[in-house]
Amino acid sequence: MVLETVHTITELRARVAEWRRRGERIAFVPTMGNLHQGHLQLVERAAERAERVVVSIYVNPIQFNEANDFSAYPRTLEQDREQLAAGSATLLFAPADSEVYPYGHDNLALVEVPDLSDILCGASRAGHFVGVATVVSKLFNMVQPDLALFGEKDFQQLLVIRRMVRDLDFPVEVIGVPTVREADGLAMSSRNGYLSESERATAPALYRALQRAAEQLRSGESDHAAIGAEGVAALAAAGLEPDYFVVRRQYDLAPAEAGDGELVVLTAARLGRARLIDNLPLTLMDRA
Ligand code: PAF
Repeated sequence: MVLETVHTITELRARVAEWRRRGERIAFVPTMGNLHQGHLQLVERAAERAERVVVSIYVNPIQFNEANDFSAYPRTLEQDREQLAAGSATLLFAPADSEVYPYGHDNLALVEVPDLSDILCGASRAGHFVGVATVVSKLFNMVQPDLALFGEKDFQQLLVIRRMVRDLDFPVEVIGVPTVREADGLAMSSRNGYLSESERATAPALYRALQRAAEQLRSGESDHAAIGAEGVAALAAAGLEPDYFVVRRQYDLAPAEAGDGELVVLTAARLGRARLIDNLPLTLMDRA
């Protein structure tokens, strides 16, 4: 089966308007392509909640802070279309840069979610979350979905989008979907493709360190700085270059305080050409 693909906002809106006239619900899964099981899960979860599932594939230049990273990002449209055609997507929206940014990338109106965008991944990737929030708000306006699904793997991104939707009154329900992992625990990511064979064997250290931190928290350890320091040391010992390893509140990623029950351990580290991120949300039952 071939999946219907549109490249312009006009074609997209015509299809969406037709479905709306019939009273169908529309779910949206924004992606940058190079699809893996994590993305395909988002599509299947979307199809459980809506009659129509629009998937977008667009490598958004304004969220990359390194030109090399943008040009090297894997573009595999034909392969992605085949994968999507085997699942529950209804329509693929694959716009060109000139469709998304017809007036170029300079002097754009931008969407900024303060504070949340400046910490953790935002601290080492200046402008990244402004680029994400801006393109997601544009895509929401193009597709006008009832709901949109995002992977929890990008936990900070999910929070930035939730805050944007709340503060700007987008009529879109945002749904987070748990991270899909390889058999050895490595979170699925398009960036895993950058790893050499030996780096790939090292990469699950990230998830192991998160699990160890979660065990410590569950067994009552409340010194989050010590947990973070141990996580950083474990990653470095495994051969990664840690960026951060922290325990935060799920709600706003602020440092957790005694009594906070909804926590998330987040980490980012470099391994060869790849910057890998992962996280583990957990609820401490007696405190939540
Ligand atoms: O998570 C991604 O792939 C991207 O950040 C997104 C949400 C598609 C925006 O470009």
